[in-house]
Amino acid sequence: MLKEKVEKALNEQINAEQYSALLYLSMSAWFESKGLPGFANWMYVQYQEELTHANKFFKYVIDRNGEVGLKGIEQMPTEFDNVVEVVEKTLEHEQYVTSLIDKLVDVAVEERDRATESFLKWFVDEQVEEEANVSEILDSLKLIEGKGNGLFMLDRELRQRTFVDTTQAE
Ligand code: FEO
Repeated sequence: MLKEKVEKALNEQINAEQYSALLYLSMSAWFESKGLPGFANWMYVQYQEELTHANKFFKYVIDRNGEVGLKGIEQMPTEFDNVVEVVEKTLEHEQYVTSLIDKLVDVAVEERDRATESFLKWFVDEQVEEEANVSEILDSLKLIEGKGNGLFMLDRELRQRTFVDTTQAE
């Protein structure tokens, strides 16, 4: 049985992960519209990953006999100035998600909910990877100043990313 505070925080995280999914889907569409199919693919895979994160939280709340409370869909940003801005926003968003996960761990610790604390460890580790992956792309983009042949080559590289449901690989 989940304590109320933990249940509320977990539900907020389901919604945050769903928000992340839609934000990245919107960014994927923006990249498609700019003729960058590799970046669009990378963001689409990111969207798929975020859905699995939301579903992992969803399943956990159900497994603990908690009550799921879903929010509605908000309007996502659709306009960005340039490629570098989109990737910077992605990194900022991942850093924000990391702070949410850290706060969630604090709630689990305060409420002495060891199962939730243990469950969250996967997300603590995942966020390290999430931030590192985006930082790597941002570093490459800065090197090539976000344009020209370098951008074309980076786009080709990002086309290779395929979706793997890492929430199942345990
Ligand atoms: Fe679900 Fe990208 O954090």
